[in-house]
Amino acid sequence: MTSGIRFDGVTVTYGNTTVLDSLDLTVEPGEVMALLGPSGSGKTTALRTVAGFVRPASGRVFIGDRDVTALPPYRRGIGMVVQQYALFPHLRVDANVAFGLKAQKAPKAEIPGRVTEALEMTGMAAYARRYPRELSGGQQQRVAIARALAIRPRVLLLDEPLSALDAQLRSGMLAELARLHRELPDVSILYVTHDQVEALTLADRIAVMDKARLQDCGTPQDLYRRPRTEFTASFVGNANLLPVTVTTDGVAFEGTRLKVAASEAAPGAGATLCVRPHLVGLGPGPNALSGRISEVQWRGSTHRLYVDVGGHRVKADVRELRETPALGAEVTLHFAPEDGVLLGAGVTDG
Ligand SMILES: Nc1ncnc2c1ncn2[C@@H]1O[C@H](COP(=O)(O)OP(=O)(O)O)[C@@H](O)[C@H]1O
Ligand SMILES: [Mg+2]
Repeated sequence: MTSGIRFDGVTVTYGNTTVLDSLDLTVEPGEVMALLGPSGSGKTTALRTVAGFVRPASGRVFIGDRDVTALPPYRRGIGMVVQQYALFPHLRVDANVAFGLKAQKAPKAEIPGRVTEALEMTGMAAYARRYPRELSGGQQQRVAIARALAIRPRVLLLDEPLSALDAQLRSGMLAELARLHRELPDVSILYVTHDQVEALTLADRIAVMDKARLQDCGTPQDLYRRPRTEFTASFVGNANLLPVTVTTDGVAFEGTRLKVAASEAAPGAGATLCVRPHLVGLGPGPNALSGRISEVQWRGSTHRLYVDVGGHRVKADVRELRETPALGAEVTLHFAPEDGVLLGAGVTDG
């Protein structure tokens, strides 16, 4: 049986409000797709249409090649993990993990073995006889993941599974999820998060959501290096977004000619130039911009400089500065032409 998920024009409305607007998106079999976007952008709604808890107003949802739009949740072969663990407090760990198997009417004799297998996968086999209240948050989340895996789902839905954990635990669990996926290469994973680090770390591709719509979709490297929209540029990583005018051989920014990566934009068109702060260097070089330092933040491995260039604030993350630059100092910044990405000129995102 194939896995994979396909949204085909999926629209969800509550009253007069459209909270998911005609979503078209395909998660390939075995792929990890992150749904990344700010709170309220429709991520959970999209995930719940796959689980079967939300009924689309229009459009179809497919799992593998099967249209599941009208299928009840328990018949979709899905494992799901949400932020709040949602373990049954009165059941021990093993009974929690067995729950989905029993609901699925798995053969009784198979259940203990499947429970142990799932608990071993998440490193929780030693805790089988504990109650949820006897576990830490991270351990509870592992049990919730084991419970989702016990039914051997074709599709795993994860909704902000790490956001209740503290930062250190979160990064450990991220590595664990990556390992789990390597052990289950056929399972398609839809991973909802508002955290770009989680999306960049874990996903094969990222679907960027904003205001009920899919804004952009691509591999993490793609979206980071070649964002198509200002929203993606600023939501995935940090960005300088500078208003420019397209010229025959580059762009003009506040009267300064700059060379950028090739684009099809027509000369004279207005556009936005995206340059990542860590790709902006201090000192003379190609695409030099002069300005005055308006703010300096020391961030351990870098200095973040804010430089006022013709009334625009340009951010530069500079490494290995021996001295903290003085506020108000005149400086020159530069960036390589290939690091300047032109957005929104001729290439509209609809
Ligand atoms: N059951 C519901 N009834 C009414 N509005 C809802 C319901 N569920 C979600 N919404 C609204 O839909 C929008 C998208 O919500 P959601 O999908 O949970 O966003 P996200 O997961 O990206 O934060 C929000 O504005 C939210 O208030
Ligand atoms: Mg949500």
